[in-house]
Amino acid sequence: MNYLNQLNWRYATKRMNGQQVPQDKLDRILEAIRLSASSFGLQPFEVFVIKNMETRKKLKPAAFNQPQFDEASEILIFAYYDNLSSTHVNEYIDNIASTRGVSIDSLEAFRKTMQTTVDTKGKEALHIWTSRQAYIALGTGLVAAALEEVDATPMEGFSPEKVDGILGLAEKNLKSVVMLALGYRDEANDTLAKAKKVRKPKEKFYHFI
Ligand SMILES: Cc1cc2nc3c(=O)[nH]c(=O)nc-3n(C[C@H](O)[C@H](O)[C@H](O)COP(=O)(O)O)c2cc1C
Repeated sequence: MNYLNQLNWRYATKRMNGQQVPQDKLDRILEAIRLSASSFGLQPFEVFVIKNMETRKKLKPAAFNQPQFDEASEILIFAYYDNLSSTHVNEYIDNIASTRGVSIDSLEAFRKTMQTTVDTKGKEALHIWTSRQAYIALGTGLVAAALEEVDATPMEGFSPEKVDGILGLAEKNLKSVVMLALGYRDEANDTLAKAKKVRKPKEKFYHFI
């Protein structure tokens, strides 16, 4: 498979046809998202996989009634930790220690570096930082979907406050930041399905120094 062909094939699908993504493909896309890089490896966000149509009906008005809420196979919602605390840092340290079979003491310098980073950022800067990690995973998911020949729409067009209210995210210490609809394009009704990709020319994009 030529991945550049797949990246040209993909587009932010506005209309989907309701076809379901096979479970094995969905599992691999979700795994790619879980494997995504994050700063320190801390993964300061979680992902909600919304298949339930009742929930999607409630979410749709919070996202400008975008039709993907009716037509996608799944809507993934990326949500970052509102309060990133020492609990998250310590859980990560425990995970490294048990996964790699090393002592927690040997990770003390790393733990301190992470904790200092978290402690010295103000709440707003911390939210920006944690959101960025979610966006990197979104990008990984977009590429994985393209390789699986599953259509996808990255979506920022929603009210995070409303979505958080519907999903009860505040109680989980989470804030929604971006979504990814997965499904299959409706070529007959999506005006962008056959549109040429628009990107900056290489000479205006790259600086080779
Ligand atoms: C972070 C992000 C948020 C986006 N939000 C939406 C959205 O809410 N609804 C939508 O239809 N497209 C959304 N898009 C899709 C972009 O409009 C699209 O990626 C862009 O026009 C480039 O076209 P292409 O991805 O089809 O190649 C979003 C894209 C990104 C990366």
